[in-house]
Amino acid sequence: MKTIFSGIQPSGTLTIGNYIGAMKHFVQLQHEHNCYFCIVDEHAITVPQDRLELRNNIRSLAALYLAAGIDYEKATLFIQSEVPAHTQLGWILQSISYTGELERMTQFKDKSKGKETVSAALLTYPPLMAADILLYNTDIVPVGDDQKQHLELSRNLAQRFNNRFNDIFTVPDISTPEVGARIMSLQEPTKKMSKSDENEKSFISMLDEPKKIEKKIKSAVTDSEGIVKFDKENKPGISNLMTILASCTDKSIKEIEAEFKGKGYGDFKAAVAKAVIDVLAPIQERYHELLNSEKLDDILDNGADRAASVANKTLAKAKKAVGLGRVRKK
Ligand code: TYM
Repeated sequence: MKTIFSGIQPSGTLTIGNYIGAMKHFVQLQHEHNCYFCIVDEHAITVPQDRLELRNNIRSLAALYLAAGIDYEKATLFIQSEVPAHTQLGWILQSISYTGELERMTQFKDKSKGKETVSAALLTYPPLMAADILLYNTDIVPVGDDQKQHLELSRNLAQRFNNRFNDIFTVPDISTPEVGARIMSLQEPTKKMSKSDENEKSFISMLDEPKKIEKKIKSAVTDSEGIVKFDKENKPGISNLMTILASCTDKSIKEIEAEFKGKGYGDFKAAVAKAVIDVLAPIQERYHELLNSEKLDDILDNGADRAASVANKTLAKAKKAVGLGRVRKK
């Protein structure tokens, strides 16, 4: 049994990309491993957030995790800001991070591009992410492709700390799905699908109604060849839809190619829409039941307690290794 940690930001409703690249795998992993799944609200405030919207998004994400199949008895589900050890270890890890390596992070460059002012927290986001992971002696971090660079840095920080102070952190491995590690925008299929995209037609939200899903997939950008074939370079739109279909049905790309041989894009897109709706409809139903339930609060309270009891132990070891505070009598 391994220890698994992953997090999702509560910034807007999740997309089918978040589901296919991350959440779907969390559900599978919880049956065999010791899992921690986190709502990383402290990461969300590295860019400006509306206070009430953030509160709603945190709750909504918690409900979505559960609706998607996270079993709170098997996995620990919690809110990052409710376990203070995250920011505390984050600070320690900032002290061994170099500004140069943080400035080189693609996500920092993308999110700060063209902005007049950028928060210092956007730059120091990766050491906080490393803290999230390292607090739980995590063996494996399941994420989408876009988090690979942050994970590499987390590994470097763990090794750097272990070498410089004391060997206390497990160096985590990254796990990305074979199919669907990078779901692309429906409108610009060479760009990642993102919940913060201004064009609503470019992404499918996990809470989109069936009609909306059909419409968005119908208007997805493809090509004029009319052949359902996987070719990322020359047919990025069709390849992306094939990936979505493969992930939602657990069929292979080869099977999909065979199934749609001789058929047009109309039939194909209808099948993609149906597969996405079949996956999302039951999740949406459970989501609405959970959102306003007291049970959700109980689960999060319990999750924070469980997470804190592990995190505080690791934090105490890290503080001792660095020389912070005093040696206290029991
Ligand atoms: P976030 O909130 O942007 O995304 C959550 C997860 O969804 C994956 N993902 C995608 N996968 C496939 N295709 C896409 N288009 C797509 N878009 C997003 C992401 O790779 C991610 O796995 N920094 C992280 C949150 C975080 C974290 C952590 C993750 C904070 N601490 C510790 C793992 C471990 C983030 O912003 O993810």
